[in-house]
Amino acid sequence: MAILKEVEPQDIKATDKLLEEIHDTILGDLYAEHDAKNFCEYLQQSGITFTPEFKKMEKSWRLDESNHYQGFCQIYSLLYHKSIEEIERKLAAYQPDFLSIQQFLQDEFSICVVLAYDELATTKAYCQDFELYPLFVTFGTLKSGTFGE
Ligand SMILES: [Fe+2]
Repeated sequence: MAILKEVEPQDIKATDKLLEEIHDTILGDLYAEHDAKNFCEYLQQSGITFTPEFKKMEKSWRLDESNHYQGFCQIYSLLYHKSIEEIERKLAAYQPDFLSIQQFLQDEFSICVVLAYDELATTKAYCQDFELYPLFVTFGTLKSGTFGE
């Protein structure tokens, strides 16, 4: 959010074609970051007993993911002219489904391994997206190289 707070709609230079091409990537990232909240709620209802240390780590992770989610909300809002309220209404209607990974969520250790894998996959995916951002933003901070390096 510190990086994005100064980006204004006039800083966006994306063509309609580019916006269409990157839409699913940006929306997918937005949903993925929002899923951290859903994932934490899923864990609360899982019946697994968690230690105070795990709860502390989970809270910290969730705050970090919330920051990412807010960033993608801001990016999506700027690119596609949707209000944050519109985006949040759409997300509220989304039904998360963690059944396909339930077998990997048996205890704190296995959950930490899943989270570590998710972070690794996310980091690799976002690194690939770095080359996209300068294509649609004419913003000094981004152009000066403080983002993605
Ligand atoms: Fe994240």
